[in-house]
Amino acid sequence: MCGIVGYVGHRQACPIIIKGLHRLEYRGYDSAGVAIVDQSGEIGLYKCKGKVSDLERFLDGKATESTIGIGHTRWATHGAPNDANAHPHFSSSGRLALIHNGIIENFRVLKDALKSHGYEFRSSTDSEVLVNLIEYIQDTNGCSLEEAVRMALRQVVGAYAIAVIERGVSDRIIAARESSPMAIGIGEGEYFLSSDASSIIDYTHNFVYLNDGEVAVIEKGKPLQIKNLSGEMSHVDIQKLELSISQLEKGGYPHFMLKEIHEQPDTIVDCIRGRVNPDTKEVILSGVLDNQDKFLKAGRIIFVACGTSWHASLIGEHLIENLCRIPVEVEYASEFRYRNPIIRKDDVVIAVSQSGETADTLAAVEIARREGAFVYGICNVIGSSIARATASGTYIHVGPEIGVASTKAFTGQVTVMAMLALVIGKLRGTIEEEKYHKVAQALLDLPDTLRKALDCSKNLENFAKIFTYAHNFIYLGRGYNYPTALEGALKLKEISYIHAEGLPAAEMKHGPIALIDAEMPTVVIATLDRTYEKTVSNIEEIKARGGKIIAVISQGDTQLRKRADYCIEVPSTEECLMPIVSIIPLQLLAYYVATCKGRNVDQPRNLAKSVTVE
Ligand code: F6R
Repeated sequence: MCGIVGYVGHRQACPIIIKGLHRLEYRGYDSAGVAIVDQSGEIGLYKCKGKVSDLERFLDGKATESTIGIGHTRWATHGAPNDANAHPHFSSSGRLALIHNGIIENFRVLKDALKSHGYEFRSSTDSEVLVNLIEYIQDTNGCSLEEAVRMALRQVVGAYAIAVIERGVSDRIIAARESSPMAIGIGEGEYFLSSDASSIIDYTHNFVYLNDGEVAVIEKGKPLQIKNLSGEMSHVDIQKLELSISQLEKGGYPHFMLKEIHEQPDTIVDCIRGRVNPDTKEVILSGVLDNQDKFLKAGRIIFVACGTSWHASLIGEHLIENLCRIPVEVEYASEFRYRNPIIRKDDVVIAVSQSGETADTLAAVEIARREGAFVYGICNVIGSSIARATASGTYIHVGPEIGVASTKAFTGQVTVMAMLALVIGKLRGTIEEEKYHKVAQALLDLPDTLRKALDCSKNLENFAKIFTYAHNFIYLGRGYNYPTALEGALKLKEISYIHAEGLPAAEMKHGPIALIDAEMPTVVIATLDRTYEKTVSNIEEIKARGGKIIAVISQGDTQLRKRADYCIEVPSTEECLMPIVSIIPLQLLAYYVATCKGRNVDQPRNLAKSVTVE
């Protein structure tokens, strides 16, 4: 995780870096720092524990004028979040300063070797080892910084996106990447670099995304040079990123998360635009249609994902098994990659990731590719590592998701999976035409349905206050809505720090019902579907044991309105799309419980949005 930014050109670097770091705080926010080359050629390095706003206060009044600089916002991996462990890190002599996103796995061995050469360390990070290794190589070989970086990286095992500056050099940054993202923005005689292109979109729309094993020489006024670790030139591929600044701002909402929840009717419009024809109800996903043979002969589909994307994949499993009759497995990417999975040539592996940078998912993609499976990506971030590593895919197009808790990405992912199931089902002849058109129409109606769902949830703010006392919650659902229960529980945990467990409703009597008492609220998704009556029975079992029920019910359901302690109504849609609707009140419930408890919902403790470490 961590976010890195850099600038070299003709403008003042510090304000650009600070602005970029603010936008990258979703990647980590336990300490931050910048380094510049000042007027006299010395490196000025400023860093502190805390958020980017703390760094800004710390910089106040300091002489930071410079047209070159690098900055970092940290999510601690090696070493506690404190001033010393914050980036940038100086090399021993102070000649180099480095920022790093990733993990150097063999840092202990390298550190011991450097210690034996007299190197001393100021921090407990793996990153400081790397900057000293670069300095040591430069000193012993008398080579350029670029060459020393390449030689050092050949010794490194792990993941990195790094940027290094050098004392006395005010026009050049050396950057490199392996398994951590790095975008280089190209301006007029100036360059920007960032972990996420969107953070520097104010300055340019032209980007080069570094590939694994590439080192860039970023020099003011000169063409960008990219080489591999052996020093051979790579092709510089400039790509356009269409994104507006308003998409990166809160738009009047107190938090990004609330903005992103309310954006969902619009993000679904973007997600289905050009993919579901409103006249013919035809669904077109070019990524599938261009690879029809892979999906036609697929013996199995395996989803690999983490967290919220894994929950969305569980819904994908229902969709594809129901509409395409292909067996589906849903794997935690972190488990899949380490358990020697059986992957067959006729498997289609679908990697699902909002950021497109999650280290475990990316590693799962590599394994599936190596074993000869066809690998498809469902990502949000354009040009992200997973999007580039997969053979084909579909972007969810929900715009930048900045709140750490995933909301609009979840509904976008499920929407793409529904379209995917329709397209594959039609190709394979496993879906009746009437059903196909009904689901396609429901997809077209989704933006309105979500608007109604948001409307129904208007009084959740008052209602949420009642539950701030609770230390534990249970979330229940069945069928398509069991993953919704898991996702609702995750939202509550991550932003309110209240323990919550999602379960299939019928599993309660196999153990968890023992937890029920008047102190334990149970949230039940009990909309009118084929398991409705069974869910009602599960509610009765909980009520009989003194439990309190918060039920998400279909509009007009009078039966449960009488039985549940609290009800939130949602509009109906096709059963297979219901999770997209029923998650709305659960996102809002988590948001309001967390804000009532005074939590920082956009930056919950211990979390970062993009998990680029395993
Ligand atoms: C939860 C959340 C995480 C992510 C997970 C995977 O709100 O955001 O659980 O879903 O870290 O991230 P991506 O989808 O970027 O691979």
